[in-house]
Amino acid sequence: MADRFLRACRREPVDCTPVWFMRQAGRYLPEYQEVRAGHSILEVCKTPDLAVEVTLQPIRRFSVDAAIIFADILLPLEPMGLSLEFAAGEGPVIANPVRSAADVTALKPVRPEADLGFVLESISQARAALAGEVPLVGFAGAPFTLASYAIEGGGSRSYIRTKQLMYRDPEAWHDLVGRLADAVAGFLVAQVAAGAQAVQLFDSWVGALSPDDYAEYAHPYTQRIFAALADSGVPRIHFGTGASTLLPLMANAGCDVIGLDWRIPLDDGWAAAGHDIAVQGNLDPVVLFAPEHEIERRVLDVVKRADGRPGHIFNLGHGILPETPPEAVGFVADLVHRATRRAG
Ligand code: CP3
Repeated sequence: MADRFLRACRREPVDCTPVWFMRQAGRYLPEYQEVRAGHSILEVCKTPDLAVEVTLQPIRRFSVDAAIIFADILLPLEPMGLSLEFAAGEGPVIANPVRSAADVTALKPVRPEADLGFVLESISQARAALAGEVPLVGFAGAPFTLASYAIEGGGSRSYIRTKQLMYRDPEAWHDLVGRLADAVAGFLVAQVAAGAQAVQLFDSWVGALSPDDYAEYAHPYTQRIFAALADSGVPRIHFGTGASTLLPLMANAGCDVIGLDWRIPLDDGWAAAGHDIAVQGNLDPVVLFAPEHEIERRVLDVVKRADGRPGHIFNLGHGILPETPPEAVGFVADLVHRATRRAG
């Protein structure tokens, strides 16, 4: 069933539970490593032939029910005026981070076709190459998570500079996340026009915020993005980690699917988000390093907690880690299908 992922996003009945994996195109695959041996991550993102190739790699290997376009959430920061590099082993580095109100007002708006046309081209080519086999997911970063990279200049543990801007100069903060929301909304609308059949908004580090701070400093901007997609006709997936206490708010940001990490049992997370939206998740990515009988026990537990209710998309609670054995990924995809096959 080629559309079981989209059907589950809409909480329609499916023949078996759809499954895909965040970061399913990536370093754990030797064929990805081969592409990366000759090209930087940014080159792969900016060369549609290469981006399409790595997007398709997990589809060739595993029985997954969706493809996710190969790109990165940080790409829109470059046309806004930030210099983006991926240092080997260190993750992203921004040499000229945003630190002041003046830095925020200097940021440029993003013109999706002119500035990020390579992603749109990759989407239309990947869509054609998939030929309806599985749907294609587009994505972007949510304003809080993007702001944290823009301000810290890279990854962070405690988000001191991010929260400093928020607490010391709330006006500059609201200006920054407003600009990021506008950039992301336009980019996602363009991704849908190019052929993305669902979109996922990654607010990966939003769990750093208390519910009150989330409500004041992040939620309205995420809402603005989902509102811009309301008439797009495609399912909107909203994902964060460490966000168990934020789920009721995140679920009413205007999304159709809420992504859960593994820190909350799937049934509790679904109850917190509300049964009027679909859920995606939520196996701990490190379970893929366990022996098969233990992987099986934990996959079946996630499935049992979904309780046969329409609207569960099986995924990990966060992205696949680079050291993951590829066989474990295939084992989980097949097991989810086998364990949830419905009569009829
Ligand atoms: O398969 C897919 O999921 C699609 C591709 C994808 C990438 N990045 C490619 C990539 C997706 C969906 C992302 C999203 C992304 N990028 C997020 C949100 C998801 C999450 O995991 O929370 C974040 C926070 C980023 C920012 C980012 N990009 C970081 C922190 C890093 C370094 C990570 C590391 O392990 O070194 C990247 C680089 C990056 N983007 C890689 C990939 C496959 C690894 C770099 C490489 O190939 O060497």
